[in-house]
Amino acid sequence: MGEGLIAAAYLIATMLFILSLGGLSHPETARRGNLFGMIGMAFAVAATILSPQVSLYLPIFLAMVVGGSIGITAATRVKMTQMPELVAIMHSLVGLAAVLVGLANYIDPTAYYDGPARTVHGVEIYLGILIGAVTFTGSVIAFGKLSGRITGKPLLLPGRHTINFVILVGVILAGSWFIGARSHEEGMIPLGIMIVLALLFGIHMVMAIGGADMPVVISMLNSYSGWAASATGFMLGNDLLIVTGALVGSSGAILSYIMCRAMNRHFLSVIAGGFGTEGGAVVASQAPAGDVIPITAQQTAELLRRAKNVIIVPGYGMAVAQAQHSVYELTTLLKEKNVNVRFAIHPVAGRMPGHMNVLLAEAHVPYDIVFEMDEINKDFPDSDVAMVIGANDIVNPSAMEDPKSPIAGMPVLEVWKAKTSIVMKRSMSSGYAGVDNPLFYKANNRMLFGDAKKMLDEVIAALKS
Ligand code: TAP
Repeated sequence: MGEGLIAAAYLIATMLFILSLGGLSHPETARRGNLFGMIGMAFAVAATILSPQVSLYLPIFLAMVVGGSIGITAATRVKMTQMPELVAIMHSLVGLAAVLVGLANYIDPTAYYDGPARTVHGVEIYLGILIGAVTFTGSVIAFGKLSGRITGKPLLLPGRHTINFVILVGVILAGSWFIGARSHEEGMIPLGIMIVLALLFGIHMVMAIGGADMPVVISMLNSYSGWAASATGFMLGNDLLIVTGALVGSSGAILSYIMCRAMNRHFLSVIAGGFGTEGGAVVASQAPAGDVIPITAQQTAELLRRAKNVIIVPGYGMAVAQAQHSVYELTTLLKEKNVNVRFAIHPVAGRMPGHMNVLLAEAHVPYDIVFEMDEINKDFPDSDVAMVIGANDIVNPSAMEDPKSPIAGMPVLEVWKAKTSIVMKRSMSSGYAGVDNPLFYKANNRMLFGDAKKMLDEVIAALKS
């Protein structure tokens, strides 16, 4: 394949990736966005394989078969609730690839650079390996935390900021040694030191971050993996990799920013770690006052039957219970009874961005009754029933009412302002942030205890009878 054709294929792939990102910004166009991404990647891979630099096809074919089989198996087996873990482990592979490509590029006997070009190439290699190594171990730890293999509790070593500072100084000093190295043999020493420091930093950085900040960490690592790919693109002189990496890097950074805003957290304080220090324990500064009032499925159906406006707030528990189809059935039933049913989606509901939207779309809940937090929060006072299905942190009033709460300042869905709020969950246990929830003790709140799907099915049966 000639250079011109390859450039054209890369341009088409780039355009498809941009269209893909545009499509993925809304559930209605997400499928199309995905399709654009897949076609773009097919163009990119085909053009790269057919480029003149590639002469050995068998190893590439074997690698594609092995990688593709692992990918297909993982994608078909993984549960929706395990998706963030899958994303984290995939990021780790991007990081590892950046490290290995960087090392291979450095020791490549055919690559010869002189003067300023040598320095620039050295910086590309150094940065690519540095970001790749941090992404690699950071993502492995994030995977461990999300899958429960490592505790979600932040590890706060004494003098951790000093440790980070020393690592930073070490990386800068090793960098100047690396750039000034007279031979590859000499350069390998600072490169090795930097790799060890970067791997340790990745572990330390993510270990110090508490459970409630993990969504931001995942999108931040997503961003890092993009920049690592971009740096690899510079190393290899591959324009498509530079652009694609930059797209991933910047979209991950924007997503991190949006999530930080949704959780009222400063990006730097997330990176500095320590939030949610008490892990799964209850850490509200004052124990909630009041009684917990349970309700039965029959009584819930009665309240819903009499309601005119209902807002449903889904959370992680809906995903665990796989209750989305029952939620849809309930919605249809209520709409038939002329009840105005709408959904309120918190930006970090569930365990990944868009988690709730994907589940509701899968159950065919119409998009026009699904609203973002900012659009619907003001409507709770006019609602008869706010029905919380397996959500906890995202409806926790202590975020607004208790300045000492670990989630103080995080915007939440103000369900307690509805005439009645009903919380559907199995017990009184806390949510992901490990914070007690005063909503459960409010006078206008009712608790419908049980598995979300089971309880919804009972409510549906009661409504039908
Ligand atoms: P959580 O605060 O984690 O609360 C979910 C609740 O669902 C739990 O309290 C649990 O209570 C209940 N539950 C679990 N299984 C259930 C089942 N089968 N049936 C009924 N209820 C069930 O979830 P949320 O309100 O969606 O908030 C999300 C939290 O996760 C935030 O703290 C957020 O920062 C964090 N987070 C978000 C993301 C993203 S990007 N969305 C990623 C990682 C972490 P019981 O055990 O009593 O049933």
